[in-house]
Amino acid sequence: MELSLDPISTDRFVLRPFRRRDADALYSAVRTSVKELHMWLPWAHLTYGRVEASHFVRESMKAWRETRAYDYSIRDPHDEQDPHLGNISIWFVSRGFRTGEIGYWVRSDRAAQGIATEVTARMAQVGFEQLKMHRIVLRIAVGNRGSERVAEKLHFVREGILREELKVRGTWLDHTVYSMLDHEYSKHHQEIADIVAGARLPVEDA
Ligand SMILES: CC(C)(COP(=O)(O)OP(=O)(O)OC[C@H]1O[C@@H](n2cnc3c(N)ncnc32)[C@H](O)[C@@H]1OP(=O)(O)O)[C@@H](O)C(=O)NCCC(=O)NCCS
Repeated sequence: MELSLDPISTDRFVLRPFRRRDADALYSAVRTSVKELHMWLPWAHLTYGRVEASHFVRESMKAWRETRAYDYSIRDPHDEQDPHLGNISIWFVSRGFRTGEIGYWVRSDRAAQGIATEVTARMAQVGFEQLKMHRIVLRIAVGNRGSERVAEKLHFVREGILREELKVRGTWLDHTVYSMLDHEYSKHHQEIADIVAGARLPVEDA
């Protein structure tokens, strides 16, 4: 019930574990996006630097080896510049009860192109099909409409509010818990597979 280090893919993207030389690309993506990221993510402070990017990559490689968490760098195989497009991660909250969690962010200059929806759909497949999770949760700060839409579009169910769960920008933020159970995934797995395979409404019809 562990993941190999092999990259995985969706219609448009490759998701691969971090390697040491990814630190610069990660740093550049965070710097490009930090104004949006710091609205919602506690680690994304406005002076985020190269040292933190290197630290993240080292920790991510260690977490993978120790099977604590699986972080992927989102890449576009058709983009010659090969920028880091964002992160998607999955981890066990409880192995005993087979509960997992997914977290993500997408660089701001590639927002609203369906990236988070497509890669989160892929991660739900990994969670339910490979890691055999029973329940996967997303925790989304109240008011983060983009992220709420990702959850809704993939049929995660809104459970309730965790009050003042994380302190971000010096303020305690309430978070909504969304979840999907394995039998709900069975119901939606074809639609999720279609999203992974690139079935999207044309922008003009969306
Ligand atoms: C939230 C975030 C992950 C969305 O990623 P994305 O790749 O832009 O998402 P998608 O393109 O798959 O869009 C999902 C939906 O959200 C909408 N959306 C995207 N950004 C939005 C925004 N800033 N405000 C409102 N809606 C937004 C899209 O239009 C789409 O909805 P639609 O299909 O009804 O049009 C990304 O903007 C981000 O990383 N933000 C900062 C960090 C963060 O919030 N991480 C998530 C923590 S839970």
